[in-house]
Amino acid sequence: MSGFVLAIDQGTTSTRAILFDDKMKVAGTGQQEFTQHYPASGWVEHDPEDIWGSVVATVKAALKNAGSAASDVAAIGITNQRETVVIWDRATGKPIHNAIVWQDRRTAPLCHKLKKQGLEKKFTRKTGLLLDPYFSGTKIAWMLDKVKGARKRAEKGELLAGTIDSFLIWRLTGGKVHATDATNASRTLVYNIEKNVWDDELLSILRIPAAMLPEVKDCADDYGVTEKGLFGAEIRILGVAGDQHAATIGQACFEPGMMKSTYGTGCFALLNTGTDLVRSKNRLLTTIAYRLNGKTTYALEGSIFIAGAAVQWLRDGIKVIGKAEHSGTLAAEADPTQDVYLVPAFVGLGAPHWDAEARGAIFGLTRNSGPAEFAHAALESVAYQTRDLLDAMRKDWKGASAKTVLRVDGGMVASDWTMQRLADILDAPVDRPTILETTALGAAWLAGSKADVWPKAKDFAKSWALERRFKPDMEAAVRSAKLAGWRNAVRRTLSRQ
Ligand code: G3P
Repeated sequence: MSGFVLAIDQGTTSTRAILFDDKMKVAGTGQQEFTQHYPASGWVEHDPEDIWGSVVATVKAALKNAGSAASDVAAIGITNQRETVVIWDRATGKPIHNAIVWQDRRTAPLCHKLKKQGLEKKFTRKTGLLLDPYFSGTKIAWMLDKVKGARKRAEKGELLAGTIDSFLIWRLTGGKVHATDATNASRTLVYNIEKNVWDDELLSILRIPAAMLPEVKDCADDYGVTEKGLFGAEIRILGVAGDQHAATIGQACFEPGMMKSTYGTGCFALLNTGTDLVRSKNRLLTTIAYRLNGKTTYALEGSIFIAGAAVQWLRDGIKVIGKAEHSGTLAAEADPTQDVYLVPAFVGLGAPHWDAEARGAIFGLTRNSGPAEFAHAALESVAYQTRDLLDAMRKDWKGASAKTVLRVDGGMVASDWTMQRLADILDAPVDRPTILETTALGAAWLAGSKADVWPKAKDFAKSWALERRFKPDMEAAVRSAKLAGWRNAVRRTLSRQ
């Protein structure tokens, strides 16, 4: 059988399809952006039909680009933006509402209400998450409450709910399979990560009928086959994982203590804690890193909402750079005597603060501050936020030793200046791999190994190759002073001081 494996990476702003050959090298790609909808302040939606159209188009483009046909592909692996949810009609496959995106804050009042009822501890104990609008559960509840007739229809079994992977599996298999994987389920706020089941008590608190929800499978599992008419031949779907989990796999972080951080729009750092379900005392999330052969591996996760988005802000908001890749060069020109701090709480702050009401602030401006100091502060803010996550991880789990190495990927890691500053602020080595398509590679590996055309975990891990290690190179006293300045800036930005 051919060793070609297709990864579908359905992200927040674009969809990508990547065809890997039997040497796990990229053979062809397709990419399409789609429209973001902002119907009210703090609301973010996607049209599920746009997402579906982009998946079909990019898969076709990747095959064409590689000069391949669907019959050459051994398996598909799906990876996706997490937490974003769709509810659709079981009979027609039509969504009843736009997808509500992970960034959407509309369910903040419901989260407050649940917190006031003293329910956060219960949700955290069972799901590893916090009562924040970020997660899917309250978004499903919102649609059932607000879309006319939805709750009744859901109770009658006419509607199905799922994260983007489930919606795509349903569409790709022509409505034959309603499934998700354990990593995506672990982001919904209604999945018990210890027992690996949908949690009836949490479902009843949020009034979500269990019958709407997909079957939860291993990350490498049988998810059915694509309809023949779609791509010209049936292709088996054998791998599924949320994008941050797929990146953890793509970075071969299979051993406890290994950690990856992906710098896209936001930044998501996952630390593999093995079979230890570590309960954070420092406002991190506990999540399922992956589930293979029925065995669950857990992770501690730190989620930062603004990372690459700070560079976009430099480019599109205050227009101090023309292209994202110029940010590092501009930052390097900053006056080193100026202590300018940007706290990029543009959509509130995620881990470890979880302050939905905080908004961005800049401190330490002088009459000499200009574009270079803004760029410097924006890039450094990503390093400081990562440092806050690493500190929290070390407090939470003894396996996160002082020797932790950070494996990095995502658009921002192309900047040498930013990666060096990250290593300096973390006081830990930062490893940039040769392959930066780690999310797609992780999804492809799940499918390829399940299809028996790609190596098993150990050999796959050996194929991970280092492009460059950034070693810390900053005096301890300088680092401490900078960290103190950052912490002071964050304190002054929080909405509850
Ligand atoms: O939790 C949200 C995350 O999965 C989104 O990732 O890369 O689509 O911004 P990305």
